[in-house]
Amino acid sequence: MHPLVQEAATGRLPDWAVAGKRRRAHMHRVAELMGGWARASGRTDEEVDRWQAAGHLHDVLRGERPEALRPGVPSHLRDLPGSLLHGPAAARRLEAEGVEDEELLQAVAYHTLGHPDLGRMGRSLYAADFLEPGRDLRNAWRAGLRDRMPEDTEGVVREVAAARLTHRLESGGALRTESVDFWNELVEEST
Ligand SMILES: [Fe+2]
Ligand SMILES: [Fe+2]
Repeated sequence: MHPLVQEAATGRLPDWAVAGKRRRAHMHRVAELMGGWARASGRTDEEVDRWQAAGHLHDVLRGERPEALRPGVPSHLRDLPGSLLHGPAAARRLEAEGVEDEELLQAVAYHTLGHPDLGRMGRSLYAADFLEPGRDLRNAWRAGLRDRMPEDTEGVVREVAAARLTHRLESGGALRTESVDFWNELVEEST
C-alpha cells in the first residue's frame, strides 16, 4: 500500500491538502462510515484501511479554487461545474504522487458524479458522502439508510442516487452522462 494511503487511513492527510476544519470533520465522518462498513462486510484489514483512506481523501482538494483545479483534470471532465472538480483533481494528484490503486482513484474521482464502473468501494463512498451524520438533511430517512448498510448496499445506493439526481432535476440542473450511466447501471443490476 502506498505510504500516502496508509497515512490517510489513520486520518493523516498529505501536506498539499486544501480543506478547512469543518471539511476535515466531514471527511473524518465519511471515513468512519467507510471503515465501519468495510469491517462489517468482513473485509481484510488492508481493505478496511483502503476504504477509510478513500473516505479521508475524497475531499482533500475541496478547498482549492476551481480555476486552480481545472487545468489538472482529464480533458473530458474539464467542463465540470467548479464545485465538482475536486474529485477528479484529487484523483489526478494522488496518481501523480504514485498511488496506483485504481479502485481508490476511481472512487475519489467520481464520488459526486457517480460512474457506471464504480465498484463496491466507490459506491459506498458515494453513499457515505451523502449519508454521514453531520449533514443536516432528511435526517430520519438518512439514518434509516445508514442502518441498512452494508447489507443492502445496492438498495441504499439506488435510493441515494435517486435522491441526488431528483434534486438535480428539480433545481433545473443538467445531468452528466456519467451520472445517468451510473443510474442505468444500478437499475439494470436490480432487475
Ligand atoms: Fe466532495
Ligand atoms: Fe464529501
